[in-house]
Amino acid sequence: MANRKILITCAFPYANGPIHIGHMLEHIQADIWARYHRMRGREVWFISADDAHGTAIMLQSEKLEISPEQLIGDVIKEHKLDFLNFNISHDNYYSTHSTENFYFLKKIFLKLQKKGLIQEKIISQFYDNIKNIFLPDRFIKGTCPNCKSKNQYGDNCEVCSATYEPVDLIDPISVISGQHPILKKTKHLYFDLPFFSSILKNWIHSGVLHNTVINKTEEWFKIGLKQWGISRDAPYFGFKIPNYLNKYFYVWLDAPIGYISAFKNLCSFNKKLHFKDLWCTDSEYELYHFIGKDIIYFHTLFWPAILEAANLRKPNSIFVHGYLTMNGLKLSKSRGVLLTAKDWIKYFDSDSLRYYFASKLSNNINDIEINLKDFVHKINSDIVNKLVNLAARNASFINIYFDNFLSRTLNDIKLYQYFIDSSKDIEIFLENRDFSSVIRKSMMLLDMANHYINEKKPWLIAKQDPKNSELQIISTLGINLFRIIMIFLKPILPDLAKKTELFLIDELRWNNINKPLLSHKIKKFIPLYKRININIVDHLTANFKE
Ligand code: MSP
Ligand code: ZN
Repeated sequence: MANRKILITCAFPYANGPIHIGHMLEHIQADIWARYHRMRGREVWFISADDAHGTAIMLQSEKLEISPEQLIGDVIKEHKLDFLNFNISHDNYYSTHSTENFYFLKKIFLKLQKKGLIQEKIISQFYDNIKNIFLPDRFIKGTCPNCKSKNQYGDNCEVCSATYEPVDLIDPISVISGQHPILKKTKHLYFDLPFFSSILKNWIHSGVLHNTVINKTEEWFKIGLKQWGISRDAPYFGFKIPNYLNKYFYVWLDAPIGYISAFKNLCSFNKKLHFKDLWCTDSEYELYHFIGKDIIYFHTLFWPAILEAANLRKPNSIFVHGYLTMNGLKLSKSRGVLLTAKDWIKYFDSDSLRYYFASKLSNNINDIEINLKDFVHKINSDIVNKLVNLAARNASFINIYFDNFLSRTLNDIKLYQYFIDSSKDIEIFLENRDFSSVIRKSMMLLDMANHYINEKKPWLIAKQDPKNSELQIISTLGINLFRIIMIFLKPILPDLAKKTELFLIDELRWNNINKPLLSHKIKKFIPLYKRININIVDHLTANFKE
């Protein structure tokens, strides 16, 4: 098989708030996958961007009394730093507010127009005549027409899950001014999504989506696909629609086109990459979008329809994850349940979060609950007690009695071979994004390795006859078993992997799994990972209550 070429994307965080560990779940998931494929020698490109447009960003900049351009400029710097702190290896982190994005958006829009896929309609919409602004669904609240719960958004009820139009709300209120909005007529542009019904239906059943994602998408087919509104009235922060006065493209049209423009921008500083090679319909590149379950609709219906209409390639798969929750509540800025990436780094490190997420992630859309006490327990028992301890207990003998040299041969070749053979399972788990199985299997192997050392009792040999080559051989196997596990876990634990490479004086490479380190000099062992004090959890929780 020719070497695989892969483009990986993460959904674009909005540029009006900080990166929280819910966002980070997605970038960590994609990053582990990207790092794994790179280790296997594949050509991998990993991109994301800030989603810089929309009413929320405009209002946020007004609140801060700065221009939206300044807001998104400030925010992207923060976001990039957050991702750097968690070792997210984006090859490009761009912005949807870019010349490339406007160029592709216009080009695609004109093509859709030419094909007769864009229609105009006059509709009545809620308007805040104190702020002089048409109100997006999320900026209208009222009583649910179905279950009569108060304080529900204009598009759906969080209590009974009913979906409706803002005009159906009982007693609607503008979130911006707190006043009753009025209904006002306005002209809007619509994309003919229903035209693509049969193409989309074939596509979602062509093996590109996980079953649960297919089922979710099927629900929308059951209701029937609707024309999709792609314009918004001024005032808005976004791109202006050519040949229309005071009309802007809806943020959700230009956002996914950002996948194209972020890649185009990457090509400009990577001369071996060619834009067409990726986006042409017969591309050799695989394309994967990592997203959360709240934005399935946009990625399994609108986006492939737009790509189809524009004669561009479609993704090979959409990888959907569930929400990160804390005490059962989704982490989000608007709901006020927030643990930001910055705050996390003040209390813990990056590898620990990556490890904890990996231990809970597989390729389904179940929500993931983060429990900090459980987190500390897991890190201490897995990383400190099992993984690092295996290195520590064996390294000490090699360091003290054998001048840092590993033995020339291995005993118990069967155990070693079992570890090598396990790499086949690990490869399958990693390929399928079943990271929790990677961790489970690695911990099982570590138990075997630690059990082996407990049986051999090298400390007794050290006491009686410290120069005995048996002691060197046992410890050398221990170090080599540790090394194999660290190769498996390198995509998950990049910081620990780097320290391990310094300690072993050896690069952890997938191709070296079956080549043991023998007659090889290692460094004096330094603690590779620090136990987390459980009291930190109380500190953190106390600070967050304030
Ligand atoms: N801007 C859009 C995406 C456009 S993609 C062309 C958006 N932004 S977002 O900031 O709300 O979310 C970005 C990603 O983070 C989404 O995939 C979303 O599902 C994910 N998450 C946001 N909160 C999350 C959790 N609490 N848990 C897991 N993922 C979360 O949607
Ligand atoms: Zn309701």
